Amino acid sequence: MPIYPDRFIDELRLRADIVDVISSYVPLTKAGANYKALCPFHREKTPSFIVSPEKQIFHCFGCGKGGNVFGFVMEYEKVSFPEAVELLARKYNMPLPESQRQKTTTKEGVSLKNLYAINSFAVNFYHKNLFSKQGRVALEYLLSRGLDIEVIKRFKLGYARDEWDEFCSLAREKKASDKLLLESGLVVASEKGGFYDRFRNRIMFPVFDNQSRVVGFGGRSLGEEQPKYLNTPDTRIFKKSNLLYGLNLARHHTDEGYFFLVEGYMDVIGLNRCGIGNVVACLGTAFGEGHIRLLSRYVRRLVLVFDPDEAGINAAVRAVRLLLPTPLSVQVLFLPEGMDPDEYVGSYGRDAFLALEPVDGFEFLMETISKEYDMSDLKQKSLFFKELFELISAIENSIIQTGYLSALAGFAGLKDYELAREFRSFQAQRRDNASLRRRVRASGNTNIGLRQGLRPKGPEAELVKLALLCPEYRGQIKDLLMPTDFEDADLLELWQSILDANFDIGRLQIGLQNGEISVRPEILSWFNEILFSEVADPEEMIYTSSKVLLDKRNARKIKILKEVIRDRSKRGEDTSELLRELDALLKKRRDRIGQNI
Ligand code: UTP
Ligand code: MN
Repeated sequence: MPIYPDRFIDELRLRADIVDVISSYVPLTKAGANYKALCPFHREKTPSFIVSPEKQIFHCFGCGKGGNVFGFVMEYEKVSFPEAVELLARKYNMPLPESQRQKTTTKEGVSLKNLYAINSFAVNFYHKNLFSKQGRVALEYLLSRGLDIEVIKRFKLGYARDEWDEFCSLAREKKASDKLLLESGLVVASEKGGFYDRFRNRIMFPVFDNQSRVVGFGGRSLGEEQPKYLNTPDTRIFKKSNLLYGLNLARHHTDEGYFFLVEGYMDVIGLNRCGIGNVVACLGTAFGEGHIRLLSRYVRRLVLVFDPDEAGINAAVRAVRLLLPTPLSVQVLFLPEGMDPDEYVGSYGRDAFLALEPVDGFEFLMETISKEYDMSDLKQKSLFFKELFELISAIENSIIQTGYLSALAGFAGLKDYELAREFRSFQAQRRDNASLRRRVRASGNTNIGLRQGLRPKGPEAELVKLALLCPEYRGQIKDLLMPTDFEDADLLELWQSILDANFDIGRLQIGLQNGEISVRPEILSWFNEILFSEVADPEEMIYTSSKVLLDKRNARKIKILKEVIRDRSKRGEDTSELLRELDALLKKRRDRIGQNI
C-alpha cells in the first residue's frame, strides 16, 4: 500500500476544501457558520449532516459518521485511504509525489501505470475482435447462451483469436516493452526465447477492480479445450484474493443491503442480464479474508449461491465458517435440480430466483457438520457440540451468540438452559487456559485494558474535550492528565495521538482514517461530535473535572496503600511509614470533602 509523505497530504488537504468536495457529491445548504445536508450515509428526512468549513470536517448527528475530506471520500466512494488521496489528487490536479512514483516502479522499470495501460489496451483489442469476422463463433456462442449485445458491452466481453502472437505483436508495435508484456501476464515466454499470447481462441472476461480499471482476464475456451477457464496469473495489479468479479457493477447496487456470491463468471453475467445487479464471484480462487474486507465496505449480508455438489457444499462450509465471526451476515441458497444461477434465471426468470428462500448460514453449518458425526454415539455427539461451541465462542455479539445457542439447542433436542449450561462450562474451561496467558501479559497499569462502556466518560474525557476545544487550557491539561487516569484504553490511545499530533486536528483525522490510530467507532463519533460542540464555561469545567480526577486518583492510591499495608502487616513487617502516608491521604480527602460543604 503506497504511503504518501505528510507534506503532500497536508498540501492536498489545503487544496481540497471539504465544502467544495462534499458539495460535488451532495447539495449543501448554508446554516450559520456551517453547511448542512441530508446525510448520504443513512436514510433521513431532516438534515443532520453538518460540514464545518472552518474545521474542515463533517459529522452526521444521525448515524455518527464523521471525519475530514479524506474520510468523506473513503466512505462515499468506498475506497481505502491511499485511494482517496489519489482520487482527490487527480481532482485537484496535484501530481503524485516523486518518491511515490519511484515506489510504483520495480527495479526493472515497469510502472503500475503501464500495467493498467496494457490491460486497458487489451480489453479494447479483445472486445473489438469479438465483433470481427473471426470472432463470429465466439459472439454466436455468447448469444446462444442468452446474452445480448448490451450485456456483452456492459461486461466488455471479448475474444482472443486463434493466433499465436497477435496481441503480443500489436502491443510491441505500440511500444510495450518485453518486461511489461511478461509482467502483465498477457504474454508468455516460450522455451525457445520467443513470446506468445497467453489467451488464444478464448472468450475474454475482463476483470475490473473497484475503481473500474481492468486488471486482468478470465479466458473461457470455446470448445472442450482444457482448462475451461484460463486466468491472468497474479500480478502486481491482479491479486485474486482481493478481487471479485462483478464488483465494479455491484457496488452501485447496494440498496438491498446484500450481495449474492456466486461461483462463476457466467453466473454474474446471467443474473445481471435478468436485472439482478447485486452479484459478485470469486475468480477461481477460494473465498477469503481479502474478499470479506472488500465486501464489508458495501453490504451487511451475503447470500452464497453455490453448487449443491460436494465441492460446492465444502466451499460454502468454508465461507460460512470464515464469515460467522465477522459483521457480515451470511445465508446460503442451493438451487433446485442442481442448477447454477445462470441456468436458473435463464429457465425461470428473475422473480422466481428472488423468491427463493436462503437458509441461515449457521443453520446450514450446523446441519452439515452434524453429518460428520454419529449423533447416536454420546462421545461423537459431545465432539459435535465442542466443534460448534468453538464457532459460537468466536462471535462477539452476545445477542447473536445466544441466538445460535438456541438454534443449536433446538437442533439437538435440548432445552435452551441445558445447552447454555454446557456452553458455560466449555467457556469456563477455555477461560482458565486463557487467563493464565493474560496474567502474563498484563502490564503494571491495572486500570487499562477494559474497554468500559461505549461512549467515553469521566473527568478524563471532559478534560480531553476541553483541551481540544480551548487551546488556552492545553498546557495545564497536558500536565495534569496521566496515563493512569484513563479507564478507557481507547480514549487513552486517542489522547496520546492528540499529543503526538500536537493538537493538529487535520493530522489526527488522517491517522484515524488510515487506520494508524485504531480506536473503536464510538470513540471516533464522540471525537467528531465534540469538535462541533462548545464549552459554555471552561473555568468551571476544568475546576470540576480536575477535582473529580484528583479524587479518583487519591481513592486509587488509598486502595492500593491499604492493600500493601495489609499484606506487610500479615508478614509482620514494619508499616508505620506507610500508615503515615495513608493518614495524609485520608486527611486530604476529608479536607476536600470539607471544602464542598
Ligand atoms: P464453472 O465451470 O461453473 O464456470 O466454474 P461458469 O462461469 O459457470 O461457466 P459456464 O457456465 O460453464 O460457461 C466456476 C468458476 O470457476 C473458475 C472460473 O472463475 C469460473 O467462472 N474456473 C473454472 C477456473 O478458474 N478455471 C477452470 O478451469 C474452471
Ligand atoms: Mn455455468
